[in-house]
Amino acid sequence: MELGLEDKVAVVTGASRGIGREIAMAFAREGARVAALARTEEDLRQTVEMMESEGGGRGRHLARPCDVTDPDEISSAMESVIHFSKGRIDILVNNAGGRQNFARLDRLDIEEWRRAVESNLSSVFYVSRAAVPWMMARGRSSIVNVASIAGPVGFARIGAYTAAKAGVIALTKVMAVEWAEFGIRANAVAPGWTESPMNYELRTDPSNRDLFEEIRDQTLLKRFGVPSEIADAVLFLAGSTAGYITGETLLVDGGWLAV
Ligand SMILES: NC(=O)c1ccc[n+]([C@@H]2O[C@H](COP(=O)([O-])OP(=O)(O)OC[C@H]3O[C@@H](n4cnc5c(N)ncnc54)[C@H](OP(=O)(O)O)[C@@H]3O)[C@@H](O)[C@H]2O)c1
Repeated sequence: MELGLEDKVAVVTGASRGIGREIAMAFAREGARVAALARTEEDLRQTVEMMESEGGGRGRHLARPCDVTDPDEISSAMESVIHFSKGRIDILVNNAGGRQNFARLDRLDIEEWRRAVESNLSSVFYVSRAAVPWMMARGRSSIVNVASIAGPVGFARIGAYTAAKAGVIALTKVMAVEWAEFGIRANAVAPGWTESPMNYELRTDPSNRDLFEEIRDQTLLKRFGVPSEIADAVLFLAGSTAGYITGETLLVDGGWLAV
């Protein structure tokens, strides 16, 4: 399937590890130029080295440290991206995010709520707001937001994360509605349980064995997903093959939400 991503400029947040790194690598393999954003510079550089080894050579991709909860840092990072790409942004993937500490809502620390909502929801608004003027200028571009299966349902003890991811799905629809006239499509991918550093302890700590097996057995395909399976869905939605899809959320969850 021809995705039409050759020489496109893709900004990928949370590209220092896990799903985001795999998304960045997948874009590089399709011939896109990637601006990789996250806080940990050393890991970002490693992502860029991995992309360079996929082909294209040095200078084709950018590692730019940035905290996506800080609008000032985002403005400055976007300036670097625009300098790197000579004013072009064709694709934005808002992938950065992370889990919260487990707590029932009535016991959830206010700071923990704020942190989860800032990193999983507000960041999507902040980064998109900074990138979209450049995307409007392209006439045809695409945003893919990474939500979660926690978005459409009520997950106990991760209420802030769940509410934030539901917000990402709603925000994706508003982006699609407001920016369609500028040629921007906006979609979301909602991953299910996916092997990444985010849930390393859940998968490997013997004290979590029962929970791990319960989750695995509740999943129709009887396994966790792998980051490349989420990346495939992101690339599909970002590329020209999904040219008539906008405002949609694609579940990539091994059937976890089907039952
Ligand atoms: N793994 C799963 O089972 C699963 C399931 C559903 C949804 N998701 C979603 O998928 C996305 C990727 O998760 P993952 O599993 O790959 O997690 P991960 O391995 O923990 O990676 C999270 C990424 O987000 C970045 N990040 C977090 N906070 C940031 C901030 N304030 N500013 C900039 N970058 C930030 C991290 O980089 P730095 O720490 O270097 O900044 C890292 O690159 C997240 O949105 C997550 O909610 C994951």
